[in-house]
Amino acid sequence: MSELSRNEHIKEASDYLRGTLAEGLQEDITGAIVEDDAQLVKFHGMYLQDDRDLRAERARKKMEKAFAFMIRMRIPGGVVTPAQWLALDHVARTYGNGTMRLTTRQSIQLHGIIKFNLKETLKEIDAQLLSTIAACGDVNRNVMCNPNPDLSGAHKAALDLTRAIADHLTPRTPAYREIWLDGERIVGGEEEVVEPIYGKTYLPRKFKTVVAVPPSNDVDVFAHDLGFIAILDGKGEVTGWNVTVGGGMGMTHGEPATYPRTADVLGFCATNDAVAVAEAVVTVQRDWGDRSDRKHARLKYTIEDRGLDAFRADVERRAGVVLQPAKPFAFTSTGDRYGWSEGTDGRGHLTLYVLNGRLRDDAGAKQLSALRMIAQIHKGDFRITPNQNLIVANVTTEHQSEIEKIARGAGLLAPWSGLRRNALACVALPTCGLALAESERYLPELLDALDERLSSHGLSGDDIVIRMTGCPNGCARPYLAEIGLVGKGPGRYNLYLGAAFDGSRLSKLYAEDLDHAGIVAALDPLFAAYATERTSGERFGDYVIRAGFVAASGNGRDFHANTGNRRAA
Ligand code: HEM
Ligand code: SF4
Repeated sequence: MSELSRNEHIKEASDYLRGTLAEGLQEDITGAIVEDDAQLVKFHGMYLQDDRDLRAERARKKMEKAFAFMIRMRIPGGVVTPAQWLALDHVARTYGNGTMRLTTRQSIQLHGIIKFNLKETLKEIDAQLLSTIAACGDVNRNVMCNPNPDLSGAHKAALDLTRAIADHLTPRTPAYREIWLDGERIVGGEEEVVEPIYGKTYLPRKFKTVVAVPPSNDVDVFAHDLGFIAILDGKGEVTGWNVTVGGGMGMTHGEPATYPRTADVLGFCATNDAVAVAEAVVTVQRDWGDRSDRKHARLKYTIEDRGLDAFRADVERRAGVVLQPAKPFAFTSTGDRYGWSEGTDGRGHLTLYVLNGRLRDDAGAKQLSALRMIAQIHKGDFRITPNQNLIVANVTTEHQSEIEKIARGAGLLAPWSGLRRNALACVALPTCGLALAESERYLPELLDALDERLSSHGLSGDDIVIRMTGCPNGCARPYLAEIGLVGKGPGRYNLYLGAAFDGSRLSKLYAEDLDHAGIVAALDPLFAAYATERTSGERFGDYVIRAGFVAASGNGRDFHANTGNRRAA
């Protein structure tokens, strides 16, 4: 048995995620917390970060780094009430950096909260029945589903399952309430009492769950550790769920033993069995996952190493459920449906476009204020989409034109460009400590340049999925984009091509270390060829494979094989 990783010892010694966090918050000589607590605070939904734009200047002045925390909400299915929205907006402006960020996993992140404001922030959040527990860390994180439960009965069933799984897999430790909300300290207890599912050391690594309703794969089901795909009957009702396991994005440049992987379909289960199956998948991974090497600890590696059949057998044994063979399903896309849509009950839902999910007030547009105005009059609720966008849901007829007018005025309606409509970027600099290159701050400039090229080839209106991240961890799921850009170093990116538009196939590395001009120069001839050679309805990601530019990606270990420009070879 190889040695346990350092994080395993930190979890074990933490007394169910307490560590010395309570003491560290009182320590006023630094804006940071000690290293072990910085690992534990993730389980409470926070990351200790520093403003990387200020590092050099502060080092020159011999000042401590500009430490602040990012906090991430736990919002199953992305559903937020107007009152909750207003509270988060208030916190973002009072304690944060005046921006809100909608994330690719249907959450909201607030950045720039200094240590001494954390407790006030979390109290305001708690007062609106929101929480940050388990938004990060080695646990089941925010559970995602198609963001509009009012579209149909199937969508409602998906949200019901999402909430049931989220509740069932939330850590039970009282540490969160004790540390942040001045709850009474509850002493000790047996492992099976405090954390019946996780135990003292929680999971080997992060764990992500989603629920999908075909034909939309907006949640990117194949990117996640655990997924449920609704199987519908002729009347559109849910008859049960295909279970998927072993998806994940993260990898490390230059380490081929790490790779993104699309999930496998494990089988089919009834709605009544779904939570038990979810728990069994989690506990098999808890017991089988690699706790010695965090780069090999995700469920995707457990499944590659042990095989799907052995994994299924143990899930069935633990859940007391025999999975049936998977049922047929079909996805069409991973994108959002912008503009107004109407549910089966006639209510209106407006999907807004939020570039990179970042809401702020600046000289160009006052998007944060616009949403505050909408939240003040809106009687329905908000839904964060898995594509960093926002749905104003259940809008009463009397408010429809007013809400649309505010959104239009703030530039929140979808743009015409098919590339821009399908673009995602992770946060990266200046807050993310892992970023090797810009992402959110650079993508708009790249989109301008690529839009210009697409327009010259008559492709402006065509949907093409583009995603960028500042490092290979893959927070914006770049390996499932038709055009994926992954930061390699300052101003340099690896270009991945050939993923499927419906999110079912990974991409391939096409070119390495490209700068801005290099990216445009690499893509322009492909756009030109696509415009003239594509067959009717053929997607860009499929075309580049058929035309021989890149090899199609298989799964897992195959991701790193046959890379490069195949036409140039
Ligand atoms: C080893 C893998 C990963 C590590 C260490 C990691 C770490 C981080 C960190 C530090 C941030 C905070 C950045 C900031 O807000 O300043 C972040 C953001 C985020 N990560 Fe990851 N991440 C990993 C992989 C992933 C993957 C595979 C996904 C999704 C499939 C994901 C989803 C997110 C989301 C949704 C955000 C919020 C910002 C956004 O929408 O891009 N992460 N991650
Ligand atoms: S992909 Fe990398 S750079 Fe981007 S937010 Fe995630 S960890 Fe940070």
